[in-house]
Amino acid sequence: MHHFLVINGPNLNALGQREPTIYGTNTLDSLENEVKTFGKERGCHVTCVQSNYEGKIIDWIHDAPKQYQGIVLNPAAFTHYSIAIRDALSSIDLPVIEVHISNVHQREAFRHKSVTAPVVIGQIVGLGFKGYTYALDYLLKTVQKEDKNI
Ligand code: DQA
Repeated sequence: MHHFLVINGPNLNALGQREPTIYGTNTLDSLENEVKTFGKERGCHVTCVQSNYEGKIIDWIHDAPKQYQGIVLNPAAFTHYSIAIRDALSSIDLPVIEVHISNVHQREAFRHKSVTAPVVIGQIVGLGFKGYTYALDYLLKTVQKEDKNI
């Protein structure tokens, strides 16, 4: 069974209360349940983690290849400046999709730059929670395609 990791970065634990006009009123729990259910319905297992600490996210990225076939990552504010998370992503050989709930390009200029985007497969922005399931769907189809080629 394929196993995927969903990593949410700082302040995403406050989804539901945090700037609801930007991020909506649904909680991190409901986001995680949505992604897990989506995975379950497609026969894969999804583990969801969240941290406000850069080092913890880096450790999860380093360890991911041991048990996961891909990562859906919302690095939140770290997206815009964490070279350490970017380097961690470059250090592993695993497909990663970057997701942002809001359309960062419609927001402040400092959110337009992603230091992580150049080292991931692709980015989904502005599609709300749906971005996570779209990312998972892509990862799942990619690994299933690889399975057939073996
Ligand atoms: C975010 C966008 C970031 O700019 C912001 O710092 C976040 C959330 C998003 O999901 O839209 O915390 O990654």
